[in-house]
Amino acid sequence: MVKIAPSILSADFARLGQEVAEVKEAGAEWLHFDVMDGCFVPNISVGIPVLKSLRKATDMFLDVHLMIDRPIRYARQFCQAGADLVNFHVEADTEENIKAAITLVKGLGKMTGVTVKPATPAEAVLPFIRDIDLVLVMTVEPGFGGQQFMEDQLDKIRALRQMIDSQGLCCQLEVDGGINPDTAALVREAGATALVAGSAVFGKADRAAAIQALRE
Ligand code: DX5
Ligand code: ZN
Repeated sequence: MVKIAPSILSADFARLGQEVAEVKEAGAEWLHFDVMDGCFVPNISVGIPVLKSLRKATDMFLDVHLMIDRPIRYARQFCQAGADLVNFHVEADTEENIKAAITLVKGLGKMTGVTVKPATPAEAVLPFIRDIDLVLVMTVEPGFGGQQFMEDQLDKIRALRQMIDSQGLCCQLEVDGGINPDTAALVREAGATALVAGSAVFGKADRAAAIQALRE
C-alpha cells in the first residue's frame, strides 16, 4: 500500500502535537517535516528544536526534507533530533558532499534519500541510488505548500520507477507537491510508493477521509 506522509507545513503550528496525533489516528504512515533556510528556497519554516519536540510527542516515522544549502552541515543534528529518514536535495551541494551526508546518516542508523527539483533530470540520482532508501521527486518548486502539481514531472517519475526496478533496488519513490486525490492517482500509476500531502490532508476537516482519498 502506498505510504501517505502529511506535510506539517500545512498544519496549525500552534497545535502541532494535536495535529500530528490526528493524522496518525487517521491512518497516515509517515509524517513529512519540511525544513527551509531562506537560501536554498525563498521561505523559512522550522528546524531542529521543533523536530526534537515532535520526536517526544509522536512515534510516527519522521521523514525530514531538508531544503537548505550544504545540508551536510546539519545532517547529524537532524538525526540526533529524531529524524527517521533524512532527504538531501542533489542541487544543494557537490556530489561528493551529498555522498558524505548519506554515509553520515546511514552511520547513525537512519534512513536516507535524495530529492530532485522539477528542473533536475532523473539521471541526477544515479550516483546515489544504490546507497539510499528513498528518491523524492518534487512536483512543485520547493518552498511553499498549496501549489499546483506539475504534470510534466510524470515522465521523470516513470523513468525513476524503471531505474529502481531495472537495478533490482527496493528504495521508495516519493512524490511531493500538489498532491490531491486526482494527482495522487496519476503518480501512483507512474510508480510512486509514498505521497507527501500538505494542504490535501491538513487543509481538510476530515483527515481520515482525506488520507483515504489519496489511496483510491
Ligand atoms: C514544498 C514542500 C512540500 C509542501 C507540500 O516545498 O516540500 O512538502 O508542504 O504541500 P502541498 O501538498 O500543499 O503541495
Ligand atoms: Zn517536502
